[in-house]
Amino acid sequence: MSNSPFNLENKTAIITGGASGIGAATAELFASVGATVHVSDIDLKACQDRHASSEFADKIIVHHCDVADKASVDAYVDAVLAAGMVDILFNNAGAGMVGRIEQTSEEDFDRLYNVNVKGVFHMTSALMPHFLERKAGNIVNMASICGVIGVPDRFAYCMTKFAIVGMTKAMAMDHAKDNIRVNCICPGRIATPFMLDRINEYPDPEAIRADMDASQPMGRMGEPEEVATVALYLASDASSFVTGACESVDGGWFAG
Ligand SMILES: NC(=O)c1ccc[n+]([C@@H]2O[C@H](COP(=O)([O-])OP(=O)(O)OC[C@H]3O[C@@H](n4cnc5c(N)ncnc54)[C@H](O)[C@@H]3O)[C@@H](O)[C@H]2O)c1
Repeated sequence: MSNSPFNLENKTAIITGGASGIGAATAELFASVGATVHVSDIDLKACQDRHASSEFADKIIVHHCDVADKASVDAYVDAVLAAGMVDILFNNAGAGMVGRIEQTSEEDFDRLYNVNVKGVFHMTSALMPHFLERKAGNIVNMASICGVIGVPDRFAYCMTKFAIVGMTKAMAMDHAKDNIRVNCICPGRIATPFMLDRINEYPDPEAIRADMDASQPMGRMGEPEEVATVALYLASDASSFVTGACESVDGGWFAG
């Protein structure tokens, strides 16, 4: 067994929104360092297809879960706990929306709130009794640069990601003495379908891509694997004295 603090051998992780992008890359990375990974997505087929050919497929178990639906979350968590103990929860699933308040309907507001905020609430509520009973747990929440600064045209999305930063810090305080660490990740623009599909909806995708690259001082978008490594840092003993943190992965955006 490796002595690396990044080693996840004998650990079990839950990852939501793992059919693509950051969640899929993180599932692969966690499995590559020894974890058993129960990955889920609202799109079960896409999740199965994404992980079936993985080099680490034997360590990755795929489930259906809509994080906005409490019954779906409870069924997922029950199935995972029936298989054994859980060490790590990565609340990664998320929905996006471009628009100011005047372009945001109540349905839009509720949709983003239900996936991004209530999704984290449902998943973490379902796992917290297990973590408390074990006196051990590690929660990593997916926030965003939009959770620490206001980004133009992202009214509802910013609302949800600021809420995730708030939930992260509140839970970190509440459970600091329970050996349960709670941190979040604040990526800038990352080249996943979440970002790239939206760019392709604009009349001039190349110009938009150049703008989006330029919003990061490093002049490019990040790659999902560059976020997955930060998730591994937070989920592993490498960050054993870190709780309540918001880790920027944004090519310097938040520093400016
Ligand atoms: N890509 C970026 O630029 C960026 C930046 C900051 C934060 N984020 C956050 O990272 C997370 C992952 O996004 P990504 O960029 O990898 O996008 P992605 O589109 O590649 O992956 C998101 C996954 O979440 C799933 N999903 C959506 N709604 C769900 C639900 N209700 N229940 C379960 N799964 C659901 C989707 O099916 C998809 O597979 C999101 O929370 C997003 O807000 C992304």
